[in-house]
Amino acid sequence: MKSFFSSFLVLLTVSFACAGEIIRIDTKDNSLVFKVQDQKLYQLWFGAKTGDKLAALPQGTAFPAYATFGTGEVNEVALRVTHADGNTSTELLFESVIKEESGPGIVQTRISLKDSFYPLRVDLVFKAYFAENIIQQWAEISHSEDGRVTLYNFASAQLSFKATSYWLTQLHGDWGNEMNLKESRLTEGIKIIDSKLGARATMYATPSFLLSLDAPGAETQGETIGASLAWPGSFQVALEVNRMQELRLLAGINPFASQYVLDKNELFKTPALLYTYTNGGRGQVSRNFHRWARKYGIRDGEKSRMTLLNNWEATYFDFNEEKLARIIRDAASLDLELFLLDDGWFGNKYPRNNDQAGLGDWQVNKKKLPNGIGFLVKESQKNNVRFGIWIEPEMVNPQSELYENHPEWVIAQPHRPPILFRNQLILDLANPEVQQFVFNAVDDLLRANPGIAYVKWDCNRFIQNGGSNYLPADKQSNLQIGYARGLLSVYEKVNKAHPGVQLMLCSGGGGRMEYGSLPYFHEYWPSDNTDAIQRIFIQWGGSMFFPAIASCNHVSTVPNHQTRRVTPLKLRFDVAMMGKMGMDLQPGQMSAEEFAFSKSAIATYKEIREVIFRGDLYRLESPCESNRASLMYVTEDKTRAIFFGFLLHRKVGEFLPGVKLQGLDPEKSYLVKEINMGPGKNSYLSTHGKVVNGSLMMTSGISLPLNNEYDSIVIELTAH
Ligand code: GLA
Repeated sequence: MKSFFSSFLVLLTVSFACAGEIIRIDTKDNSLVFKVQDQKLYQLWFGAKTGDKLAALPQGTAFPAYATFGTGEVNEVALRVTHADGNTSTELLFESVIKEESGPGIVQTRISLKDSFYPLRVDLVFKAYFAENIIQQWAEISHSEDGRVTLYNFASAQLSFKATSYWLTQLHGDWGNEMNLKESRLTEGIKIIDSKLGARATMYATPSFLLSLDAPGAETQGETIGASLAWPGSFQVALEVNRMQELRLLAGINPFASQYVLDKNELFKTPALLYTYTNGGRGQVSRNFHRWARKYGIRDGEKSRMTLLNNWEATYFDFNEEKLARIIRDAASLDLELFLLDDGWFGNKYPRNNDQAGLGDWQVNKKKLPNGIGFLVKESQKNNVRFGIWIEPEMVNPQSELYENHPEWVIAQPHRPPILFRNQLILDLANPEVQQFVFNAVDDLLRANPGIAYVKWDCNRFIQNGGSNYLPADKQSNLQIGYARGLLSVYEKVNKAHPGVQLMLCSGGGGRMEYGSLPYFHEYWPSDNTDAIQRIFIQWGGSMFFPAIASCNHVSTVPNHQTRRVTPLKLRFDVAMMGKMGMDLQPGQMSAEEFAFSKSAIATYKEIREVIFRGDLYRLESPCESNRASLMYVTEDKTRAIFFGFLLHRKVGEFLPGVKLQGLDPEKSYLVKEINMGPGKNSYLSTHGKVVNGSLMMTSGISLPLNNEYDSIVIELTAH
């Protein structure tokens, strides 16, 4: 896999302490510039590429690059530690800078700093992905003091800005309602976006955000920074506007109740903050992230993905071999490529017949599946469908053999009653023995059933009242960091042991939408809410940072199980097609007409999916701002595009103008064709079947025949 922690390094330059030294981190369109002055490191610039015209930089814009407590700082700091002798101050001096090529088009810059008195070092490391305009920054902290150092603040990155106003867009949500965009103007003081959840950390807030300078965020214009912390645990993003109207941005692991006790010579590596700058608005931020993610940020991001049928909403826990075999046959007759068996297949002494028991006992339930997983794998193979399976290996129900045998493995505090969430407890992944158990749960299942092609890895609760039986009393606050690191190491082992198995990242829906986990996963489940209308919003929010190829979108039945809304099957397919499409229902319960529509939609999707997976996304009309939503994907060479449009709400008398397309080649003409209409349906699109100039469609727009609530349209554009 193309992990972004690759070890390929070609030395470019090394230089040591030198007054007035300028350090540049450049991508194709961005520059991050530092200066060494009085042995200290300052950020001079972050924004549009400066070339060599540093003299043109505004005066007075030198900010501490990584502020520390104890140097007269009165604002939030990147680093605050207590040294082994009790001294609470740190003063970092520049030591050296090394530039290396760490892969084609990737330059790594390591700036080494050390305390002026104590043997404590901080390396700030930057990987610049030139073509994608993404900078990935983290810090490495270590010491050789006699004793332990306690880290109280340990940001991954600090960035400073000077603008007339700052507009923060955060992605906020809850179960079934993930990824809502909320914008606010930053005022003097500190705004913090954080998660204290430890696991399922992005359930309420996410570590991805947009920052617009001088004006509110816009889709196609304006100075915009997009940033995302690659970390599956608790995070904190702090944005402090000071009295001079300067903004300091700090992002990293949430230090709340997580001061880290660092042993002598132990390396503390923070997770990376990924960021990009553009003056082309949010749309360009997203395209930068998507291009980067497909290449480096998600597993096998340049390979294709399989359509699938999931039995969760089809059966919930209520299934047997016969029922599943029927669903597998139905998946095959729809030409779906994989069957995904969800929760409920395991546990014998404490069978998993509902969410009250069984988690932790990863042995097949003999009553429901007397012939084991092997039978279902064979049934799938017989029908030319691949087989996938759900697992939630970090969890345990008190009603389980695992809990009977290892009550000491759960996260809890002594002398306090354990806190249940969805009737379950969370295992202590800071403990290497537990890490081994979690790895074995997945590994044993995959080894015993080599036909498993896909795993949905779930996590349905977060950490509350965190206490570890494994960690010593004086390191209890290391628990959350230990958990996240333990989890990442298990992911890595599973990836190495099973390189051919595809993985879906799920956490009660979108509770793990972040780039710390995604290098190990092919795709993520954005929400348990499969209602097509609400999904338009959730997927819209997710698209700010995550590419369509990673977003699992399932067509489910109506009335929808979460909202009770009834929407047309075509709308449900059109919404699911804007990513990696699957289905979550019993095809056997569909009418003949619905079945025929589904079959033709799946065939259509297979013809266009590579454009959606690899194309550049242009969001045209936001569902948050209009009754109509639309977006399109355009291939890099601009020869093919797929457009999606939806009427979310019908308002009598509302005149919706033509929609102006984006991203096409103005010099090219395109054959316009409405697709996914279903067997025997005619198109009412006025440009259907016509060849239209790209420039015209971008300046005058095209009118859409969306007249009734929940009408939707998919249009294919092919360069002529
Ligand atoms: C979580 C997931 C669902 C489903 C259930 C099974 O809620 O998000 O998709 O797998 O667990 O219990």
